[in-house]
Amino acid sequence: MAYETVEVRKTEGCGAEVLGIDLRAMTNRQWDEVQRAFAEHGVIFFRDQKLTPEQHIEFARRWGAIDINRYFPPVSGYPEIAEVRKEPEAKKNIGERWHTDHTYDQIPAMGSILVARELPSKGGDTMFADIYRAFESLSDGLKDMLRGLRAVHSSAHRFGAQAQAKHGNELGFRNADKVGDVIHPVVIRHPLSGREALYVNGDFTLHFEGWSVEDSQPVLDHLYAHATRPEFTSRFQWRDGSIAFWDNRATWHSAQNDYHGERRLMHRITVAGCALEPAA
Ligand code: SIN
Repeated sequence: MAYETVEVRKTEGCGAEVLGIDLRAMTNRQWDEVQRAFAEHGVIFFRDQKLTPEQHIEFARRWGAIDINRYFPPVSGYPEIAEVRKEPEAKKNIGERWHTDHTYDQIPAMGSILVARELPSKGGDTMFADIYRAFESLSDGLKDMLRGLRAVHSSAHRFGAQAQAKHGNELGFRNADKVGDVIHPVVIRHPLSGREALYVNGDFTLHFEGWSVEDSQPVLDHLYAHATRPEFTSRFQWRDGSIAFWDNRATWHSAQNDYHGERRLMHRITVAGCALEPAA
C-alpha cells in the first residue's frame, strides 16, 4: 500500500528513511504511516528534526512506556534519556559490536530512539542489519535447528563489577550490581510483523541453552558473519537533526568507533517491549 502523507524511501540493505515530516507536529495520518513504516522496515531514519529532550520523550511515549537503561548515564534532568557519549580521550565507544539493545532483560526493549546531539567532524556512523532477511536466507536445516533452541543472554560481562575491574569504566556505566542472565528463543515470531527473526547477538548472547560456550560459539560466529553481510546491512551517516528509531527485535546495530580525539554525544530512549514468543 502506498504512503500518502509521508515519503518512505527504502535504504539499501536495511531500513528506510521517512521524509516530509516534522516529528513535533505530526498529523494522525502521518503517525499511522510512521508506525507502518517502522513495522515494515525495522529501522526508520529521520533528518532535519529539532526535538528538545521533552519532545524526544513525548515522541517515545507515543510508542509505549519508556524502559530506562540502568547502566548508561542519564542526561542531567531527564532520567528517561540515556547518554551515549564518547569523549575525545576515550578509546572505547558504546555499542561497537553488532548487537541489539537490552536482550539481557527478561522483557527486552522494543525499540531505541537515538537523537544526534554532538557529532564528530567525520565518522561515527551506525550500521544496521536486517535480521529477518538474515534468518530467512539461512539453509532450511540450520533454520530448523535454530527454531528449536533457546539462548542465554547476560549483561554481567559488559556492565558487571568484574568487567569494570578488568576493562575499566571510561564510558561511565552505573549499577554494576544490577546484572543477570535470562533465556530467550533463538528465533522469535516478531510481535508486530509475525515474521521470524534471529534473536541472538554478539554483545549479550553467551551460549545456547544446554550447550557449552565452546560448542555454541562456532554456530553463533557463523550467524554473526552471515547476518552482517553487505546485502543485509546499511550504514547511517549522522547529521545535525538526524534520528534513528530501530526495532530491537528486527535489526542489529553497530556504532562505528572511528573518530578518536573527537566527542560524539547521542541521546537514546528505549521503549519497553513484551515477552518474546518462539517461532516454532
Ligand atoms: C547503541 O548501541 O545503542 C548506540 C548506537 C550509536 O551510538 O550509534
